[in-house]
Amino acid sequence: MTTDFTVAIDGPAAAGKGTISKAVAAKFGFAHLDTGLLYRAVGARVLGGGNAIEAAKTLQPEDLDRDDLRTAEVAQAASKVAVIAEVRAALVDFQRSFARRAGGAVLDGRDIGTVICPKAQVKLYVTASAEVRAKRRFLELTGKGEVTSLEEVLADVKARDDRDMNRAEAPMKPADDALTIDTSDLSIEQALETAISAVNARWTSA
Ligand code: CDP
Repeated sequence: MTTDFTVAIDGPAAAGKGTISKAVAAKFGFAHLDTGLLYRAVGARVLGGGNAIEAAKTLQPEDLDRDDLRTAEVAQAASKVAVIAEVRAALVDFQRSFARRAGGAVLDGRDIGTVICPKAQVKLYVTASAEVRAKRRFLELTGKGEVTSLEEVLADVKARDDRDMNRAEAPMKPADDALTIDTSDLSIEQALETAISAVNARWTSA
């Protein structure tokens, strides 16, 4: 077994990256890092009056434990700080050392297979139509008590997609060697099965 085994899972908001990442990590005993939380934590610090670059440079593990990071407001703030090159640069080392953990790691985000871990053994790009993703996120947010509408969530998802895909620094896109999984018409079980068999194919030969 090699010591480094990295699974890179990228894709837009609410496509199913989180569910797939957690399931892959649990199945293979890998550590999991949701890299979106790093940008959300920086976004939350900015909403609280802080400076984005300073926040990224001084981010502490406790910042990732804040319980307000999953709100729609923080998601928008995250995608705004995520266009800043210095913010992204300050977060690279932490992500790369997490990826090199002995025993394997799963990282999910937007630029894992393209920029953070271009040599990852498995690269998945998990996507779905904006409408399907907005519906999933709407149910998730309202389930947690956030007051919003489907239209508002769809507009937010589209604004974030646009910002994430069109930024100069590390734009969201599938790596050339990524397997794309479109979850629009897949059940969770079907999506997990596809992801797990892709990892299995590489893990058993690692
Ligand atoms: O959970 P969701 O997919 O809605 O978003 P997230 O993964 O928590 O990411 C929030 C925002 O952080 C994204 O819209 C991106 O702008 C940014 N992000 C990024 O630029 N690069 C990453 N590797 C992860 C997130």
